[in-house]
Amino acid sequence: MAENIILIGFMGVGKGRTARELAKRNGRFIVDTDDLIESMTKQKIRKIFAEKGEPHFRALEQRAADWLEKNVSGTIVSTGGGFFMVNNIQRLGTVIYLHASVESIISTIQEHPKAERKIKKRPLLQDLEAAKALYEKRLPLYREAAHHEIVVEGKGSDWVADEILRIAGL
Ligand code: S3P
Repeated sequence: MAENIILIGFMGVGKGRTARELAKRNGRFIVDTDDLIESMTKQKIRKIFAEKGEPHFRALEQRAADWLEKNVSGTIVSTGGGFFMVNNIQRLGTVIYLHASVESIISTIQEHPKAERKIKKRPLLQDLEAAKALYEKRLPLYREAAHHEIVVEGKGSDWVADEILRIAGL
């Protein structure tokens, strides 16, 4: 199965927003991997991290990836910030890394009207210094996992969606 568009990138970079903009344009469905995991486990991500730990969450991400590979095509897939580590990421579709600097990501989240909620639901954003270190560690790995990179900093989601459609040849 393929012909999916897989959006990867750091927490808060705008994967969900971009997916919604893409869906508006080409009528495809969106699947969000965090939503898949929450519906599969009937638990919130925050609770999974707190009660079962991060390795358990990563195993759920792999299960979601295996399911996507077998069952989903022609879909826009927005992913959790660590989903790119699954072992079959490039077999799921065209993988697009959305890039922005960590400073801009953090200030965008902090300035959001629902900042408190956005931060609270993300276990790996509780300590900003740790989140910055995680970003630095992941940056080369996102690039390795992706077929394409788009710099989204300072761009509107309509521009980003156009760019993705161009790159993916849709
Ligand atoms: C995570 C990102 C989150 C969510 C979980 C872990 C990560 O998704 O999957 O909290 O490891 O970066 P978002 O990127 O949608 O915030």
